[in-house]
Amino acid sequence: MPLNDPCILVIFGASGDLASRKLIPSMYEMHVMGQLHPSTVILGVSRTQKSDDQWRDEVQLWVAKQVANFDASKWVEFAQRLHYFAGDAAKPDCYPALDARLCEMAESKGTRGNLLFFMSVAENLYEPIVEQIDAAGLVVEGKRWCSVDQSAKSWQRIIVEKPFGHDAVSAASLNRALGRAFEEESIYRIDHYLGKELVQSMLVLRFANTIFEPLWNWQYIDHVQITAAETVSVGQRTAFYDQTGAIRDMIQSHLFQILAFVAMEPPSLYTPENVRAEKIKIIDSISIPTADEVAAHCALGQFAGDGVEGAYNELAGVSPTSTTETFAAIKVHFDNWRWAGTPFYIRSGKKLAAKRTEVVVQFKPPAANLFRKLPGFTGESPNRLVIEIAPKERFNLRFDVKVPGFGLHGANVDMQLDYADRFKTDPVEAYGPLIVDAMRGDQTLFKHRIEVEGAWNAVMPFLDERSAKARAGIHGNYACGSWGPKSADDLLARDGRVWRNEP
Ligand SMILES: NC(=O)c1ccc[n+]([C@@H]2O[C@H](COP(=O)([O-])OP(=O)(O)OC[C@H]3O[C@@H](n4cnc5c(N)ncnc54)[C@H](OP(=O)(O)O)[C@@H]3O)[C@@H](O)[C@H]2O)c1
Repeated sequence: MPLNDPCILVIFGASGDLASRKLIPSMYEMHVMGQLHPSTVILGVSRTQKSDDQWRDEVQLWVAKQVANFDASKWVEFAQRLHYFAGDAAKPDCYPALDARLCEMAESKGTRGNLLFFMSVAENLYEPIVEQIDAAGLVVEGKRWCSVDQSAKSWQRIIVEKPFGHDAVSAASLNRALGRAFEEESIYRIDHYLGKELVQSMLVLRFANTIFEPLWNWQYIDHVQITAAETVSVGQRTAFYDQTGAIRDMIQSHLFQILAFVAMEPPSLYTPENVRAEKIKIIDSISIPTADEVAAHCALGQFAGDGVEGAYNELAGVSPTSTTETFAAIKVHFDNWRWAGTPFYIRSGKKLAAKRTEVVVQFKPPAANLFRKLPGFTGESPNRLVIEIAPKERFNLRFDVKVPGFGLHGANVDMQLDYADRFKTDPVEAYGPLIVDAMRGDQTLFKHRIEVEGAWNAVMPFLDERSAKARAGIHGNYACGSWGPKSADDLLARDGRVWRNEP
């Protein structure tokens, strides 16, 4: 893979949680793996005054904590890439000094005027900061933004973190604000789930093999389950979570990305344009339930108290009358030929029985069960592909075999590929490879404007007033350590199906 261009990665929100826990550790990993251009540097920006060295010392603690096999000598090399600038990035008076600092760094480090901005600040600062970046003249795609090395062509790109809007209207507004400053080709809407190995491997499994794709449709697949379950609570940021909930936090963003990879048509070539076009198409073909159908297409819940922590609506920072869901399950249908009649059930929640992100592809039973009078053959389909994305990275394919011995007894068996065992590699933080992709100008694993707005349109019925009936009786409607409210089981039971809740 060609080494990416040198650039200055400008992280707005440098002292925050995301930058400290994920972004800087992931850049350290990329440095150790030789994925950063030798001239690439990182400029952290936040309002708190501190020196380069103070910031380096702060983030070193995080890197040492987050990264397996932390190497102090590699850290010394990497730390030379880290620089810090104190300023309020939402205010115009920050920019003359920031511009001067960027020019000085570009000249001394040889970054050719390439700038990669990363928005790691609160969502309400995205638009003001983008406006200031633009007003300061930092974005002149294809031209020079300061007088360094006039012969070279530079680029300026921006990575935008979720939440990408709060609903369909605010997402469109943010897209317009970004579009006033950056070309769509320069906007990288990041979803770190697309940096996960098994999510990308799903595309290879589907499209590099011939044995799955012919079966990958309504004729052979009964239904698909996509689960992102957490055992943890909502953490300290209760007020933030209460404005968000499981649908916004997980389903509209991360799980719809997985959904798109499972359901989309094969792109003609693995290029950003082709992959993104297919993702846009599949999200656009999600059937939107009518107001009357919403309650029957979803199950929403809030965890009850567990003796250690109160129920969700009893937590400090949460309104006692809050109906924000800490658990959501929705049923998705596609209005297209491939998936007509095959539902996709998507669920996510806090304080559930296990930490797990996975896709279950349940195949239909054979058309005729010739073993129906023999033991071990239930007539239910044994065929199921489970793609475990986290914490384990595994593919499991289940099928029936004959049990050894006299007579014909059937039994389910699983064939498993465990990534850690097979490839002997430790997983890297998903942000790293994605940020490196942005440095290379590869948008394949980033979301397009239309796709984001389409995903919001698809979940709005489960969020706005149409979901009122589904939110009735939500308070404490599931026990901590369970798999969510009874209504989630009912959602599948109505269709004669059950969730895979195996350990
Ligand atoms: N944390 C995660 O795991 C995570 C995951 C997914 C998405 N996100 C999203 O990523 C964004 C950042 O999250 P976070 O958890 O890192 O937030 P955070 O811990 O509150 O950090 C916010 C950062 O922004 C800086 N800041 C605030 N106002 C600023 C301004 N006007 N100019 C420059 N810097 C400013 C703060 O430092 P000063 O006070 O020094 O300015 C701080 O460094 C949010 O939109 C969040 O929703 C976070």
